[in-house]
Amino acid sequence: MSLTLYLVTQNQGKLQEVREILSPYRFKLESAYRQSRITPVEETGQTYAENALLKAQAGFEALGGIVLGEDSGLEIDVLEGAPGLYSARFAGELASAQGKNARILELLQEVPSGRRSARFVCVVALVWEGGKKLFQGICEGEISLEPRGTEGFGYDPIFILPPFGKTLAELGPTVKNRLSHRAQAFKKCADYICSQEFRNPS
Ligand code: IMP
Repeated sequence: MSLTLYLVTQNQGKLQEVREILSPYRFKLESAYRQSRITPVEETGQTYAENALLKAQAGFEALGGIVLGEDSGLEIDVLEGAPGLYSARFAGELASAQGKNARILELLQEVPSGRRSARFVCVVALVWEGGKKLFQGICEGEISLEPRGTEGFGYDPIFILPPFGKTLAELGPTVKNRLSHRAQAFKKCADYICSQEFRNPS
């Protein structure tokens, strides 16, 4: 029987991506919010790891079983690592993804290509009855001069993957889900689960 994992996210884009990333493994991935009335977790941690753990622990308390929490962000070097931990709230809680991208391009208006380096960071927290463990993925790239492409979500239209010279929104899920920060972190987590004797609770 396949192992059921609960992911604590309200972001459909992330859920879809993680399902695709984990498709080679024999897991059933469910949204924790679909299964239980978890109060949305506030991201009050000072690091991605703290936020990922807050989410996974809240999911574990509500559901038990094997629970994954995730936190991620975009770090831009000329902005001293911003928006970083505040990527979801950047340019105002209610700003759309397009609004956030426009604000970043505006802040980088005077910054030439070659000085627009950035990275996506993702930390996954795994919480189960036997303990907890963290996994990290980092994807290096640069910020484009204008939004390009229609795939993905969030900052994908302004994040260029240098070996391809294209944004993640142009490259689409096949390339993104092989190389992204999220792909790296979730694959490490999946390999760890496979290396242990995890079982669905009876
Ligand atoms: P959080 O992990 O829910 O705090 O959200 C982090 C924010 O970073 C998301 O809402 C997106 O705006 C952005 N982000 C994280 N990962 C990605 C990605 O793979 N593509 C585009 N934007 C991302």
